[in-house]
Amino acid sequence: MIDVVNLTKQFGHLTVLHDISLTIHEGEKVVIVGPSGSGKSTFLRCLNCMEDATEGSIFFEGEDITSYQVDINRHRRHMGMVFQQFNLFNNMKVIDNIMLAPLRCAPRNGRTKKQMRAQVREQAMALLRRVNLEEKAEAYPSTLSGGQKQRIAIARALAMSPKVMLFDEPTSALDPEMVGEVLQVMKDLADANMTMVVVTHEMGFAREVGSRILFMDQGKVTEDKPPKEFFNNPENERLKVFLSKVL
Ligand SMILES: Nc1ncnc2c1ncn2[C@@H]1O[C@H](COP(=O)(O)OP(=O)(O)OP(=O)(O)O)[C@@H](O)[C@H]1O
Ligand SMILES: [Mg+2]
Repeated sequence: MIDVVNLTKQFGHLTVLHDISLTIHEGEKVVIVGPSGSGKSTFLRCLNCMEDATEGSIFFEGEDITSYQVDINRHRRHMGMVFQQFNLFNNMKVIDNIMLAPLRCAPRNGRTKKQMRAQVREQAMALLRRVNLEEKAEAYPSTLSGGQKQRIAIARALAMSPKVMLFDEPTSALDPEMVGEVLQVMKDLADANMTMVVVTHEMGFAREVGSRILFMDQGKVTEDKPPKEFFNNPENERLKVFLSKVL
């Protein structure tokens, strides 16, 4: 589904991603861990075209999305992204946050505006049920807890029916008692066979849900293994140190 080929990213003289090559298959749950500043967010942002690659290519379903000819907006529709800081629109009700992108981008397919709005609303309510927040449809984000906000952000990302979901530390900004409810929504998504790339420090989630775990260190992927091997036989010295801190 995603082929990253010799991806290098520089900010000025700083090389943040060094010649990364890897493939993500449909249905995989790739978990990325690593120390602060190792390039995890930059990597996700490259996948989503929020950053341009300095060198190398990224193919999504065979199409080079680093090419200047690619329609970034069309590509982004296939990728849902969830951030640490939720990034909800606070001046809009929950339901309108979720309906915004589909109303702007979904094809009309011969529907009247009214019919389209009704269908988009129905889908948004179904997504709210999926994250167990149907009763918050008419609420404003400022009245929600962090865990609720993040579940809404996930519902919003799902509204465009993405083929891949990217998560950048989705539980790092949450109070501990709210981490579980967000991880549960992510586990449900994994069970529904969503392709996922997840940057997280939640090692329990990585172990339970990850099909592969990547360790990123100074802009390189230095381990790429199934969870069992990753945790039981870490080879890399820096990974051993990292695990001793987070486990
Ligand atoms: N827009 C930018 N301009 C310049 N440098 C940047 C920019 N974005 C990131 N960097 C630098 O790139 C490096 C990698 O940053 P990145 O945010 O990808 O790391 P990270 O692994 O996500 O870290 P954390 O765990 O703290 O979120 C850091 O040294 C950071 O300062
Ligand atoms: Mg980051």
